[in-house]
Amino acid sequence: MQQQVDYSQAVASKYPEQIVIGIARDPHGKHNPITLGWTMIVSHEPPMMAVSIGKTRYSLETFRHAREFVIAFPSEHQQGEAMLFGTKSGRDMDKLAAAGCSLVPACKIDAVLLADAVANFECKLVAELETGDHVVFAGEVVCSHLNDKPLNRLYTVGKGYKMEGVR
Ligand SMILES: Cc1cc2nc3c(=O)[nH]c(=O)nc-3n(C[C@H](O)[C@H](O)[C@H](O)COP(=O)(O)O)c2cc1C
Repeated sequence: MQQQVDYSQAVASKYPEQIVIGIARDPHGKHNPITLGWTMIVSHEPPMMAVSIGKTRYSLETFRHAREFVIAFPSEHQQGEAMLFGTKSGRDMDKLAAAGCSLVPACKIDAVLLADAVANFECKLVAELETGDHVVFAGEVVCSHLNDKPLNRLYTVGKGYKMEGVR
């Protein structure tokens, strides 16, 4: 039996929710990471992925400026980075430098990969769609990378950004 409840109560049943890190270059050449839960694969052929970015985020400017971006799947060992990238703004700081995480240059776009992530996908922007207070960016995956070590991905498992590794 289904009970009618508030949207916020029903949508809280979505956890665990996968986390990705989107990275795009800003107009000053700084690569800015943002932690994102709202993401999906949107095409198999060609491979495409999408993320939903709030209109108040600095990343809205960086994704629009760069027109290309990396989507990284963080591992369970990257909770600290995911929290930093998801609670601080690139308007105020260089988040990648502050995190001190290892970076690798991307192969086919002007961006950086997270060396310790489970996987990284280089994407070229194909379309954007305004959706209420967010904007969905869809990109074609032009190059993919997988860590040679077996790693668990990072998920949020409840409100308040509580994170855990889930295989
Ligand atoms: C686990 C987690 C998931 C998040 N998911 C999203 C998301 O899907 N879309 C979004 O716009 N912000 C999301 N955020 C919030 C942004 O990461 C946060 O506002 C960030 O500081 C924005 O950085 P920026 O100003 O450098 O773009 C999430 C944060 C966390 C910790």
